[in-house]
Amino acid sequence: MTHFISTRGGVAPVDIEAAVLQGYAADGGLFVPQTIPRISEEQLQKWSKLSFVDLAFEILSLFIERAVLTADDLRRLLTNSFNRFDQPDVVPVVRLETMSNTYVLELFHGPTLSFKDLAMGFLVNLVDFFLQRKNDWASLVVATTGDTGPAAAHASAGKKSIECWVLYPNEMISEEQARQMTTLEASNVHAVAVNGCPDGGDDLDLVIARMFADDSLRGQLKLSSVNSINWCRVMVQAVHYFFSYFRVVDRVGEKIVFSVPSGAFGNLFGGYLARTMGLPVKAYICANNQNATLHRALSTGRFTKEDLIPTVSSAIDIVAPYNFWRYLYFVSGRDHDKICQWMDDFQKQGSVHLDSRTADAIRDGYISASITDEETLSTIADVFQSRDCYLLDPHAAVAVAAADKLSNTFAPDTKIICLATAHSAKFPDVVRKALSVEGELPEQAMHQSIEGAKGLCQHVRLCDCSKLAPALTHAMQSVTERRVNSSKIE
Ligand SMILES: Cc1ncc(COP(=O)(O)O)c(C=O)c1O
Repeated sequence: MTHFISTRGGVAPVDIEAAVLQGYAADGGLFVPQTIPRISEEQLQKWSKLSFVDLAFEILSLFIERAVLTADDLRRLLTNSFNRFDQPDVVPVVRLETMSNTYVLELFHGPTLSFKDLAMGFLVNLVDFFLQRKNDWASLVVATTGDTGPAAAHASAGKKSIECWVLYPNEMISEEQARQMTTLEASNVHAVAVNGCPDGGDDLDLVIARMFADDSLRGQLKLSSVNSINWCRVMVQAVHYFFSYFRVVDRVGEKIVFSVPSGAFGNLFGGYLARTMGLPVKAYICANNQNATLHRALSTGRFTKEDLIPTVSSAIDIVAPYNFWRYLYFVSGRDHDKICQWMDDFQKQGSVHLDSRTADAIRDGYISASITDEETLSTIADVFQSRDCYLLDPHAAVAVAAADKLSNTFAPDTKIICLATAHSAKFPDVVRKALSVEGELPEQAMHQSIEGAKGLCQHVRLCDCSKLAPALTHAMQSVTERRVNSSKIE
């Protein structure tokens, strides 16, 4: 039976239901499994033939005990989550002809066109299932750098057990991303645009973390979180590494490289999980933009936060990569005391002094690069204007640029899978700049759901970051009261 403990070591082990519904551990840490299961090569061979949903079923079954969720319920929830994707493979892999041994893993075929749909659809369905079973409801609070919010809002829309609050730094995400949250006609989805966030989504995360740390508020507002600290997100994000691996290798056992556009290290932690479980990965490339907290940590051992720089790959404008704590927990020898000390140092001083053993250990199987906006834009243009005629979104372009920069590190026949984490239709202004287009965009940069949202009304609450905690509490209290009153009438 898999149990989950906090990286800070301050709570008793919980089962998957509690880990999923609580989101944050009560001591301010992140939930991790007590043990990471190992997969034999024979098992990998068997998995190599499975569909995405069947593979997800096998992987998730290793973390979700049947006493909490039966096999039938797990399969049904997975099927319902992934049938909203517009590709039979869910995450198709495309080979780039003009870059040798380079592949693009398209993670953007879900309802809101980013990789966040992969884990969010299932997580929200799972939360809904657990809540309905208890005849309960919850307020899901999500801060977003542009893609998590839309995924959470769409997954939650119309679910009776959920009030979904999506917070975004105003004017720091694309207009298209904002519309995906504000144009939903669902009375249980509440978009909040927050002004005055110099550190973007990181500022919002801080406010939310403080609200969660207040036990009475947490209980009163029934707070729950589906942001990428939720264990379920990372667990589901391990699946696409396995699935795409099987699509590109000549034989199971061959070692390959993944290049991952990284912000909070959630997607890369999914990769760490996959490799620890036994996926043959030579290395992960951690591809940062100029907000290079992770690149600095991985290349120099200095885990320090610097001021946020707005870039064209805005969804990875993140300077406090909170899933890195999970990684540090495992590579530092599961030392709760060190994690407590480091988390506190990072919050107070913006920097952590990693011991030399940990600083070495974090480099095992990881290399990294920081990509400038010029490199991102020229990569979009080069790949589009090449024979491939393939349009990368700015985040996928960061991954491709990093793979290109670091390709000499590997033997020439090494296969590299670059993760395309969003559809370019979410970033038309960047595509325009990259391709120097003034008028109509190429058809690859269009998507009917994005076009459709332009003709819809927007519902949004506006707030200043300095007042966010009391303002949000007030808004949530009134929604809670309405909900309680209407249930009395029913
Ligand atoms: C399009 C896109 N790419 C990459 C990332 C980075 O993922 P992570 O924060 O899991 O590193 C995000 C979100 O943060 C995103 O929205």
